Amino acid sequence: QAAPVITIDGPTASGKGTIAQRVAQALGWHVLDSGALYRLTALAVLRDGGDGTDEAQAARLARRLDVRFQPDAILMGGEDVGALIRQEEVGNLASRVAAWPAVREALLARQRDFRRTPGLVADGRDMGTVVFPDAPLKIFLDADVGVRAQRRYKQLKDKGFSANLDDLLQDLRARDARDRGRAHAPLVAAADAVTVDSSHQGIDDVVRQVLDLWSAHG
Ligand code: C5P
Repeated sequence: QAAPVITIDGPTASGKGTIAQRVAQALGWHVLDSGALYRLTALAVLRDGGDGTDEAQAARLARRLDVRFQPDAILMGGEDVGALIRQEEVGNLASRVAAWPAVREALLARQRDFRRTPGLVADGRDMGTVVFPDAPLKIFLDADVGVRAQRRYKQLKDKGFSANLDDLLQDLRARDARDRGRAHAPLVAAADAVTVDSSHQGIDDVVRQVLDLWSAHG
């Protein structure tokens, strides 16, 4: 029998990544940050001199990604690109290459390989709808766009990057529209997902809620 999966899907900056990490830690499970794979693909495209207009090039680079996830680093060809792929430029290109079916297809098997005992917490946009449709617990994590922009702003500032709140808000809106509006694997709650709104809840509360849902399920 396949290892259990908890999927956490939702828009950019809803807190999915942190919450997935914390839930995985509490359960002693593996974690998949699927957005990182799209970001790594975008970085590979940029480094290959691409501008995000060539689907075949992006799919080829996605298939060949040489990546290793470590607790505190994401290695691409041995180089730690963990911080680099968080930049807005890479995130914006990621959401464009992610709209291409050939790129999504190229990353599918790689994502499913993360499903190992004792279990997996997978975060992204289509974890519950496309990649792990048989997951026993699916969470759709939403939050108000203004709240998400504030959080992203604080994150960037804390890391010493410059940031502008209005620009971030516009970027988030554009990225949400692209992720929700695309033809292939759009951002949408799976029919059997539980929607959790994190606008007015801290991380600890959301983590507890997810763990409670898992115990209730098991
Ligand atoms: O979650 P994160 O912001 O790191 O994802 C970067 C981009 O990758 C998203 O804007 C989205 O377009 C894409 N993505 C996706 N499917 C996933 C995860 C991320 O299309 N499962």
